[in-house]
Amino acid sequence: MLGSKFINLIDLSDYPKIWWEDIVVLAHEIKQNPDNYKSRCRGKLMATLFYEPSTRTQMSFQAAMLRLGGGIIGFDNPATSSVAKGENLKDTTKVVSSYGDIVVMRHPLPGAVKAAALTADCPVVNAGDGGHLHPTQTLTDLLTLYEEKGRLDNLTIGLCGDLKNGRTVHSLLKAMSCYKSNRFVLISTKELELPDYIKQELTLKGVEFKEVFRLEDAISELDVLYMTRIQRERFASEQQYLEQKNVYVLDEEKMKKAKSDLAVLHPLPRVDEIAISVDDDPRAKYFKQANYGMYVRMALILLILEKSLTPAPLMHGEVRNDICCKNPKCITNHESYLPHYFKVNGNKAVCEYCDETTEL
Ligand code: NCD
Repeated sequence: MLGSKFINLIDLSDYPKIWWEDIVVLAHEIKQNPDNYKSRCRGKLMATLFYEPSTRTQMSFQAAMLRLGGGIIGFDNPATSSVAKGENLKDTTKVVSSYGDIVVMRHPLPGAVKAAALTADCPVVNAGDGGHLHPTQTLTDLLTLYEEKGRLDNLTIGLCGDLKNGRTVHSLLKAMSCYKSNRFVLISTKELELPDYIKQELTLKGVEFKEVFRLEDAISELDVLYMTRIQRERFASEQQYLEQKNVYVLDEEKMKKAKSDLAVLHPLPRVDEIAISVDDDPRAKYFKQANYGMYVRMALILLILEKSLTPAPLMHGEVRNDICCKNPKCITNHESYLPHYFKVNGNKAVCEYCDETTEL
C-alpha cells in the first residue's frame, strides 16, 4: 500500500460515497448563495495542466477557482510549455505542484494523472486520463441528476455511443452502480462496447445491465439518456472512426418515443449525435449540466483545500517491475522511470495506473 499526504482525486471510487454526496450538497448550496463563497480561496493558487484539448472542464475549473477568490496558472497546450523540449511528466508536474496549492490535470494517456500524483507536492485532480476516467465529469453528472431528477437511485440509465473510449461513461458507471436499484442499458456497436473490466465490475457488484444496438429500441424505458461523442482521437485509423460516426443520432423522432420526464445528458462537446432541434426540448439537460459543472468544481476545490477527509492511498498492490502492462497506451509504457504497480491475483496482474489486466 502506498499512501499520500494529499486529497488527490484520481478515481471517485477511492473515496466513500458520502464524500461525493457532500460535494453535491455543497455545490447545490454554493449555487444558491455564491456570494458567501467568493473569498473562501483567497491567496490560493490552482494550476491547470491540460495536455489535451478542453473547453468545459478547463474553463469551469478556472471559473470555479476565480469565483472562490483564488488565482490560476497553467497551460492548455503542451506545445507551448517545456513538454515540447522533451520534459517528462514527473519533472513538469513536480515543479508546477510546488507553485500551486492544487493541480488539475488532463492527459491523453490512461494512468498519467495518477503517475503525476506519485511525486507531486500538492493535491492532484484527474480532469481526464485518456479513455480511462473522468471523475469530475461524474461529479457534474451526479449534481445534474440530483437537481434534475431529484434522486441518484432507482433510475434506468441508457448510455449511448462510444462506450469503449468514453472516460465519462466509465466513471459514471462506476459511481452510479453504487446506488441502489439503478439499471443500465448500454447502447453501442460491437466495436465500441464497454471494456470488459468495467462489465466484470458491474457483474461482481450484482448490478443489472444489458447491451443493445438500437437506441430506438431502448429509449422508451429510460429515465436518463447519457449521449456521448464518438472519440475520434482514440481510434487507430480514420477509416475505423468513419465506420462508427453517425451510427447514433438522437433526434425529435426518437424523442417522441421517450418518457415525458426523461433527462438527456451529454458531457459535451457534441459533434452530431444530438440533432440541434432537440436543444429546445425541455428534456434536454446538457447545457444546464455544463453549468452545474462549475458549481461542483467550486465545491470540490473547497473541500480539497479545506482538507475535508482522509487522503486515499495511491496504490494498493506491489511494485512488479518484471511485469509490463499489456495496454500500449498505459502511462507506464511511455514514462520509463515509473514503478510498475500491480494487484496480482493468481495469473492475473491488474495495472494500478490504467486498470487493464495482464495475464502472467
Ligand atoms: C468529455 C471528455 O473530455 O472526456 N468532455 C468533457 O470533459 N466535458 C467528453 C468528450 O470529449 O467527448
